[in-house]
Amino acid sequence: MNTAVHCRNLVKVYDTDGQKVTALSGVNLDIALGELMMLVGPSGCGKTTLISIIAGILDQDEGACELFGEDLLAMRSYDKLNFRAKNIGFVFQAYNLLPSLSAAENVSIPLIINGMRRGPAERKAAEMLARVGLGERTTSLPAQLSGGQQQRVAIARALVHSPRLIVCDEPTSALDHQSGHNVMNLLKEVALQHDRVLVIVTHDARIFSFADRIAEMDDGHIVSITDAATMLK
Ligand SMILES: Nc1ncnc2c1ncn2[C@@H]1O[C@H](COP(=O)(O)OP(=O)(O)O)[C@@H](O)[C@H]1O
Ligand SMILES: [Mg+2]
Repeated sequence: MNTAVHCRNLVKVYDTDGQKVTALSGVNLDIALGELMMLVGPSGCGKTTLISIIAGILDQDEGACELFGEDLLAMRSYDKLNFRAKNIGFVFQAYNLLPSLSAAENVSIPLIINGMRRGPAERKAAEMLARVGLGERTTSLPAQLSGGQQQRVAIARALVHSPRLIVCDEPTSALDHQSGHNVMNLLKEVALQHDRVLVIVTHDARIFSFADRIAEMDDGHIVSITDAATMLK
């Protein structure tokens, strides 16, 4: 397997005022280049924690995680920021759009961080917005958009700089059936390139058929990994 993500014995314990919560208790997971992996499981089982560690947003307490052969935990923070900016697109569950910026300005952020000038960045952002069906809303502020439209802006922002890892936390939760399928087709079209990988957390059974494999989590563990084709038979 040409490995993109390689996790071994990942443990994460949150400690809030002495209250310890074990979010991950020994997760092993390999994801291949070119693969679309879905992550399912009940609320609180550790899905967001796991994808945050894979994307280098959160540090594990124990175990090792490599992304494209790099150990993000071992990187100096400046190198890690650069690596993340270039290689990772993240669609957060709460979208995390900047409220005072237009849709196109929000989407242009990853390009500007990577050194592109503002004009070309916003033109490229507008093209990406058109691909998610928001070509007419480039100047809208997040508050002027519906939940589903904000979700699509967040998806455009995650894809615009052609990252090698795309991580999405519930990317279709606010979308109707047709928009959900459009977004999945777009994600798949982008991710299916041989040097890319896509990890999607979802409860949405309507999109399971887009996965290559589905990993099921429970209580801080991965309890099964199934080929999507088998699961849907
Ligand atoms: N920042 C945090 N501080 C304390 N506990 C947290 C934090 N984030 C998540 N948790 C806890 O860790 C566990 C796993 O959470 P999470 O990874 O968000 O699960 P999921 O995404 O599957 O719903 C839950 O018990 C949750 O309450
Ligand atoms: Mg979550």
